[in-house]
Amino acid sequence: MAKIYVEGPVRLSGEVDIHGAKNGALPILAGTILCRGECILHNCPNLSDVETSLKILTHLGCECRREGQTVIVNAADMSGYEIPDALMREMRSSIVFLGAIVARMGRAKLSSPGGCELGPRPIDLHLAALRSLGATIQEDHGVLDCTTPALLNGTAISLSFPSVGATENIMLASATARGVTVIHNAAREPEISDLADFLNSAGAKIYGAGSDTIEIHGVAALHGTEHTVLPDRIAAATFLAAAAITRGSVVLHKVMPSHLMAVLSVFREAGCDVVASGKDLKLSAPAKLRRIPMVRTLVYPGFPTDAGPPVLAMQTLADGTSMFLENIFENRFKYVDELKRLGANIKVAGKVAVVEGVARLSGAPVECTDLRGGAALAVAALAASGVTEIDKIHHIDRGYDRFEESLRALGAKIKRE
Ligand code: EPZ
Repeated sequence: MAKIYVEGPVRLSGEVDIHGAKNGALPILAGTILCRGECILHNCPNLSDVETSLKILTHLGCECRREGQTVIVNAADMSGYEIPDALMREMRSSIVFLGAIVARMGRAKLSSPGGCELGPRPIDLHLAALRSLGATIQEDHGVLDCTTPALLNGTAISLSFPSVGATENIMLASATARGVTVIHNAAREPEISDLADFLNSAGAKIYGAGSDTIEIHGVAALHGTEHTVLPDRIAAATFLAAAAITRGSVVLHKVMPSHLMAVLSVFREAGCDVVASGKDLKLSAPAKLRRIPMVRTLVYPGFPTDAGPPVLAMQTLADGTSMFLENIFENRFKYVDELKRLGANIKVAGKVAVVEGVARLSGAPVECTDLRGGAALAVAALAASGVTEIDKIHHIDRGYDRFEESLRALGAKIKRE
């Protein structure tokens, strides 16, 4: 099992390109199932969740190939409708394939994704929405067997929570349904707008993505298209935190600063100088980070839950006490115990984490508990004195493309063995 070794403390400086968004690429890859021709996806990050998605598409009879950061999928000859258990287990977010498969094939069979490191990952909103579109879904012994009449029927759907995945599943299931579907209380994340842009470029008629009400006018079928996946705002936040904790100064290229407004204001509150210009973000950190009285994670455009772990890691060395209130996932703080092995002073009580800044961190063996928690450990290790050995880095590989190469380009002493 490979591990990452980080030697600190270092001061990061230089420039790095931010890769395409994992959480943008995944629903778009599901969307290629609806397209009766070749889809060319640029800026598609090379990370394990994307590779798992390509394995799923191949298993379903689609042609897939990667050329550098471009992925080409042709679902014209798709024949399957079942996702094997092993692939479902590899990637919990495979549930986002359900709507597209059932819309294209009239049937879908997959194991319910179960929990993940962040706690139970219910899919009640996904299933209720698909049933209201006319699907019949049997759930027994952890298998979801979904069938539909000839066509799904558009309808009005009100989400009790603006779930990102459920919003995506509804868009994918209703793009070729009969009639109009309206989603009320839809998720507003940039990845939703990017999915709508992709689907509309393939012939769909989707209006209002990015707002809390999305209208989908069903069309007969979608055609092939070409699309560039949006930049990964969470990867950007991670690299900003790495620069901030090391008192560094970095420039991120190929980002969308407008997708990071809540994140940038938190970095400024911590005393960083952040300048956005076009697709570049420049951060210069102070010698000592200021405390952040309260960071609340919220749905977009609020501060994103996935940016919480890297920012909490950087605050372990801040001057004073910072508080983090996690409002999205039940079990987001699993990584905190590992951070404490580096000398951090953190107390967790339910949804709240209280971070008392300490004078220094020191390297130690730690292990990743989940994707963003793993990234948080790497961020802290950059500023810790000595060597930190990070185990279970498959979690990091799920969501970051060329993680250690990018950090090394900024001056990190980091290697994988
Ligand atoms: C997406 O997960 C992202 N994953 C997550 O990123 C991200 O943290 C999350 O959105 C919030 O922004 C992908 O896009 C692949 P939700 P998703 O449905 O769709 C509850 C990462 O690190 N809920 O908005 O699963 C759920 O339990 C990952 O890249 C229900 O109760 O998020 C959670 O508490 C982690 N019932 C909350 O809503 C449902 O049917 C947010 O879930 C669905 C969700």
